[in-house]
Amino acid sequence: MTAPSENMPSEYKASEDEIAKLIDIIEEVAKGNYSNDIMEFTKPGHSEMIQRIAEAIGMMMVRVEAREVRLEQLVRNLRDLNRLLEKNTTQTVMAIAHALGARDKYTEGHGYRVSVYSERLARKMGLPEKEVEEIRVGGMLHDIGKIGFSDRVFSDEDISFSEGMVAEIHKHPEIGVDILKGLTFLGPILDYVHYHHENLDGTGYPNGLKGDEIPLGARIISVADCFDAVTTDRPYHKGITIEEAFAMLREISVKMSPELVEAFIEEIEEKGIV
Ligand SMILES: [Fe+2]
Repeated sequence: MTAPSENMPSEYKASEDEIAKLIDIIEEVAKGNYSNDIMEFTKPGHSEMIQRIAEAIGMMMVRVEAREVRLEQLVRNLRDLNRLLEKNTTQTVMAIAHALGARDKYTEGHGYRVSVYSERLARKMGLPEKEVEEIRVGGMLHDIGKIGFSDRVFSDEDISFSEGMVAEIHKHPEIGVDILKGLTFLGPILDYVHYHHENLDGTGYPNGLKGDEIPLGARIISVADCFDAVTTDRPYHKGITIEEAFAMLREISVKMSPELVEAFIEEIEEKGIV
């Protein structure tokens, strides 16, 4: 039987050497190593068969590369859109947290101030910017669970908290996590909301966590929360002075981490209150 190439015109036939080199290049292309080597085979001096194969592969490479560039662009666009969506959702939730002020005028602005203090302390502690941002959002959202409080807790009247009311108040970190848990992109922020009333010595709530069991972000928010709570007027007490608040923080620093308390005091002394 006669091989098909035997009937081809001589200028159409490829030498074994050309075919071997072409195969090497095609194998490299198959591995994703694109180079211009293939274009050498499209030039005069090569057989027509080799030129046509090289041109076809060259064209295929151009199309594949163009598609890859387009895909990379699409992935970048999707990532940008996802970030925008997360940012907008976070801002919506923060707006809801702000609405807490409509129920409790005494804590209006508390979330904002705690978020600013927490952000400043996190940055002072040298945390990476991503964590600083998570702690800032956590500071804003930390008390969102208070939205679920009954009206008697928000009452203006001079009331002493009954055991039942204290139990209700102590539930707010868990209610907060329950409200936010569907927003999985919040990641560690959910833990900051959950554990912002835990103490290093295990006397906090809701889980009585100790030491390093409490995430650093929650401990930072806890210091900021405490400072803002005691320095602003509430229905059940008048705000104390900044110096008195520093003394109080130092007194309870065994519960809050002395290192964080000292860094916070330094921060306020340097840059003032919100
Ligand atoms: Fe709280």
